[in-house]
Amino acid sequence: MADEIFVSPRKHGRIMVLISGRGSNFRAIHDSILAGKIDAKVALVFSNREEAEGLKIAQERGLETLYVNAKLYPVKEDYDQEIIRQARKRGIDLICLAGYMKVLTPMFCNEFKNRIMNIHPALLPSFPGLHVQQKAIDWGVRYSGATVHFVAAEVDMGPIIIQAIVPVLQDDTEEKLSARILVEEHKIYSEAVRLFFEGRLEVRGRRVFIR
Ligand code: GRF
Repeated sequence: MADEIFVSPRKHGRIMVLISGRGSNFRAIHDSILAGKIDAKVALVFSNREEAEGLKIAQERGLETLYVNAKLYPVKEDYDQEIIRQARKRGIDLICLAGYMKVLTPMFCNEFKNRIMNIHPALLPSFPGLHVQQKAIDWGVRYSGATVHFVAAEVDMGPIIIQAIVPVLQDDTEEKLSARILVEEHKIYSEAVRLFFEGRLEVRGRRVFIR
């Protein structure tokens, strides 16, 4: 069967960002919006952690924030349904995972197929999962980097939108490599969101074409 083709919408978009912590990728995307580089609005910053630093950044910037306690939802799908409900209520076009530490249920991924992005601090499909900067050092790879991809039900495996390469240095530590990768994360995540709302991302099966 031929692959279904998805083309991202060209419009003034409404974004929901999902975070669990620091929120520097959220901040970078919002900075690009403020600088007029992305035609979109951050309509909601959602967190599963009440103390996420990113929520404070969002509030300081006058953005709407929401924390929902996952412990109140013993069934994972119910928690994700609540996020979907909040997204639909606000007419969200794109969900950006930015250091969101919960795995989305397949139901969520399918509901927003081609409308959820994630940033990962390695060159996927190498080093999926957590602590991947240390894993790259331990493996001895010469290059690592960052990947922005669409989210599919299989963790860290959705279609790749943009990657950036970062050399791994002889004297690297997890902190040093993470910091250099983070600089690239901020650039490519904003770039991917910009391309999305310029109507320039075309998804065919596993591959994303930039038009
Ligand atoms: C980033 O390294 C991102 O790649 C990973 O989690 C971290 C989030 O950082 N998914 P921040 O909260 O955006 O500062």
